[in-house]
Amino acid sequence: MNIAIDGPAGAGKSTIAKMVAKDLGSIYVDTGAMYRAVALRMLKLGVDTSDTVAITNATPGMDITIRYADGVQHVILDGEDVSDKIRTNEVSGLASVVAAVPAVRKKLVELQQKLASETSVVMDGRDIGTVVLPNAELKIYLTASQEERARRRFRQNEEQGTPNPPMDMLICEIAERDRRDMTRPVSPLRKAEDAVLLDSSDMTIEEVVARILSLAKERENVG
Ligand code: DC
Repeated sequence: MNIAIDGPAGAGKSTIAKMVAKDLGSIYVDTGAMYRAVALRMLKLGVDTSDTVAITNATPGMDITIRYADGVQHVILDGEDVSDKIRTNEVSGLASVVAAVPAVRKKLVELQQKLASETSVVMDGRDIGTVVLPNAELKIYLTASQEERARRRFRQNEEQGTPNPPMDMLICEIAERDRRDMTRPVSPLRKAEDAVLLDSSDMTIEEVVARILSLAKERENVG
């Protein structure tokens, strides 16, 4: 069984997808990490990221692979494990820029579809239900208000010891990423018609996980 979880930044997709995957014995695939790795590569190469052609030209030589160690996904960029380096604010912002480039999407979608064809996955991203896994047995569109997502990001930064920008700046950054992800011409973030909408603003993580597991069980019984 493949489960697709899409939604805007900060809706809790990765935490929830990880817990669902663990319960079902599936592999969790974080597709955002792959776009982040592309962004990091562009930064390292000094590519002008306002230039779509320059990003397109730098894409074919890119070597991104995914490995799993104790069920945890590691992103390997040109032989180096960059799983931690892709979590900076700079890379976050740039990831949504490179994600709008068709050549980048084509390359990463192929990698994601290959992973899902080999094993049962819980995959999160922006276009999983609409483009990557259109036949997924269960599709979830997970969202939360911008204010709640900013509060969660603030708490996450605190926990990780990452310096926090002021809250209104966090809300602006989230709004800007939403705008870029939802309005780009290629594979914009949108709810697949057959996805179940879950607004997690007033739900605990456990409640969201329980709801998805119960939906998965229903689908399994129907299948
Ligand atoms: O989920 P994330 O914040 O790690 O994703 C980083 C960026 O990558 C995000 O701004 C949108 C983009 N992305 C995408 O376009 N398609 C995906 N399937 C996953 C992420």
